[in-house]
Amino acid sequence: MDKLRIIGRAKLNGTIRIGGSKNSALPAMAASLLTEDELLLKNVPFVNDIYTTRRLLRELGVEVDFDADHMVRLRAASLQSYEAPYDLVKTMRASVLVLGPLLARLKRARVSLPGGCAIGARPIDLHIKGLQKLGAEVRTEHGYVEATAQKLHGAQIIFDKITVTGTENLMMAAVLAEGQTILENAAREPEVPDLADLLKAMGARIEGAGTPTIVIDGVPALKGASYTVIADRVEAGTFLIAGAITGGDIELTACNPGHLTSVIEKLREAGVSIDTDQASLRVKGGGALVSAYVVTKEHPGFATDMQAQYMALMTQASGIAVITENIFENRFMHASELMRMGANIRIDGPRALVAGKTGLSGANVIASDLRASASLVLAGLAADGATIVDRIYHLDRGYERIEEKLRSVGAQIERLK
Ligand code: EPU
Repeated sequence: MDKLRIIGRAKLNGTIRIGGSKNSALPAMAASLLTEDELLLKNVPFVNDIYTTRRLLRELGVEVDFDADHMVRLRAASLQSYEAPYDLVKTMRASVLVLGPLLARLKRARVSLPGGCAIGARPIDLHIKGLQKLGAEVRTEHGYVEATAQKLHGAQIIFDKITVTGTENLMMAAVLAEGQTILENAAREPEVPDLADLLKAMGARIEGAGTPTIVIDGVPALKGASYTVIADRVEAGTFLIAGAITGGDIELTACNPGHLTSVIEKLREAGVSIDTDQASLRVKGGGALVSAYVVTKEHPGFATDMQAQYMALMTQASGIAVITENIFENRFMHASELMRMGANIRIDGPRALVAGKTGLSGANVIASDLRASASLVLAGLAADGATIVDRIYHLDRGYERIEEKLRSVGAQIERLK
């Protein structure tokens, strides 16, 4: 298993180009199931979750080719299976994103229930309820969700709780359903309108994506398209904190500052200087950091996917920062590892109290999930001496060559095979 070795306290300086969004590319690849024609996706990050999706789609019968320069060609001319098996779903929950499109295309889907993971129970009951409203019969048996439908028809679906992949799954099921579907209390994360834009390029009729109400008028068939996936806001946010925590000066290009408003505002409140341009950001650290509370919320609130990285930064801020995790019930696994590096953190239910500023010292730490791993890398960049982050396969699921990108701006970081 690969590890990362980081020698901390190097000041980071330079420019990093942000890659495409993993959480946009995943549903975009699943959308290839909705048409017999070719889909060409650009700006796809070559991270492990994308390779897992390639494996899954190939098992279903989709031709998938990766070109150089982050382009992926997908063609689901004919499908040979309607099943997402346990061994793939257990490594990547987002496999559940094939449920909606398979049902729309084949009127049948069998997908392993994802089960819980390191950050929470993460049920898919809202995906299932929505599909039932569209006319599917859904059974769960032997650890699988099995959905069938004579035909899908439009319906009004009011989500009890905001769900990102739930909104995406239902949008993909509804585009080929007969009649109008209205999704209420839909997720507004930028990945949702991005998927809607792709589906519209394929011929779908969707209004309101990016707002809580999405209206979809079903069409009989979709066609191929060429589409560029949006920039990864979490990768950008992670590098913003890398600049802040090292007192560096980093420019991030090919990103969308508009998708990071809450994170930028919070970092400014904590004393970090950030300049924004249309598609770039510049972060300058070095000033005194002060603690600023954070409550994770659905977009446009502060993203749960940035909470762990923010906690690493708060160890370097003076005062007590209260961090409330509202989206997932178990997303503080990084706290105990940060404490092993010298952080002063107390967990109290959904709240973490981070008292700073504490000097961090390098240590051997274990990554428990994707964003927790990023948090430990950030702490390592600020720590005295060497930090070894173990189990970085979590990191490789969502960050493309993070060590190379950080090294290019002066970090002392290497991958140990
Ligand atoms: N929920 C339910 N029932 C459902 C669906 C969700 O109770 O049927 C609950 C979840 O348990 C959670 C909350 O609703 O408490 C929100 O979960 P959501 O469904 O929005 O999460 P997701 O769609 O499974 C996506 C991202 C996550 C990100 C969350 C929240 C993808 C592939 N994943 O997950 O990304 O944290 O939205 O923004 O888009 C990551 O990239 O590290 C990551 C975990």
